[in-house]
Amino acid sequence: MNVNDRIYARITGTGSYLPERVLSNADLEKMVDTSDEWIRSRTGIERRHIAADDQTTTDLAEQAARRAMEAAGVGPADIDFIVVGTTTPDLVFPNVGCLLQQRLDIHGCPAFSVETACSGFIYGLSIADRYVTSGAARCALVIGAETLSRIVDWEDRGTCVIFGDGAGAAILQADQAPGILSCHLGADGRYWDLLYNPYGTSRQRRPDDTEGPFIQMKGNEVFKVAVKTLENVVEETLRANDLDHHEIDWLVPHQANIRIIQATARRLDMPMDKVVVTVQEHGNTSAASVPLALDQAVRDGRIQRGELLLLETFGGGFTWGSALIRF
Ligand code: UT7
Repeated sequence: MNVNDRIYARITGTGSYLPERVLSNADLEKMVDTSDEWIRSRTGIERRHIAADDQTTTDLAEQAARRAMEAAGVGPADIDFIVVGTTTPDLVFPNVGCLLQQRLDIHGCPAFSVETACSGFIYGLSIADRYVTSGAARCALVIGAETLSRIVDWEDRGTCVIFGDGAGAAILQADQAPGILSCHLGADGRYWDLLYNPYGTSRQRRPDDTEGPFIQMKGNEVFKVAVKTLENVVEETLRANDLDHHEIDWLVPHQANIRIIQATARRLDMPMDKVVVTVQEHGNTSAASVPLALDQAVRDGRIQRGELLLLETFGGGFTWGSALIRF
């Protein structure tokens, strides 16, 4: 190989996992004042999957990781970098990356998690891309995994209808053929209080706190910023690669709300049959949603080798990101 040849990080395998237990809109009608019609028309969600009582984020991540490794044809000895996007870790520490590393019988390589809410997978992908393209890693495992059901207030109809549990994974390997072409990340902490969980480790519950330890969301305000920000990040991605909208084969968006997905597709002038939509199946699984959608479209044969994919996400923080990938 010529020293001047560019190394790319190529996605060589994907995997995902959804817990067995399914909570339908009809089930939610019995729990809060809502309706299947409202949930479908406002969000596009039909059901979500809920982790069993004894299942943790690492359990979900492990299933997705094993499937991605199998698809890529790599074993534990090949993996030299692990990053997990999650907002719902099993423990305060060790991080989910380390817990997963032990499960997979991988030892010694860097393993960590990033807590950028729904953007966790794309943040992780971007970091892994830098490691692989610099030559510091050759085979990275990138995961988005969540058990959001643990931090949802099941009496709050404004949030409990939209979130779910799941995990998605991708293997990135060094290659001379493209690969990830560019990643674009952003954040703006000004908006932290539109979407947050009030309890952490350092900030303990105070006597005058009225909120429970659950996701707090001003849904409508989040919606507006999400649409605008996603428009900006997809435009930035196209500009940076000197591409026209029509050159993208697949949009693989964050699965938060079908109306947000449709707005981004309109902006890109993409017909909806070029947009991977899985939100109906699992709701908003935060960091897991983009890799879940990616894996589904790879496995059902929609996404083919050589096609150009645009991944995008937006979440609490606010954080956002995109990745342009020659698959
Ligand atoms: O993952 C990253 C970030 N998160 C998001 O991207 C989520 C973004 N936000 C959303 O997806 C939407 O804002 C929601 C789906 C959460 C809410 O939809 P909306 O169209 O923005 O509804 P809204 O909050 O403006 O509420 C409209 C009405 C209200 O009733 P009134 O005040 O008009 O009488 C709500 O009380 O809908 C009511 N409502 C519900 N009704 C039935 C709110 N939640 C429900 C519900 N069932 N589950």
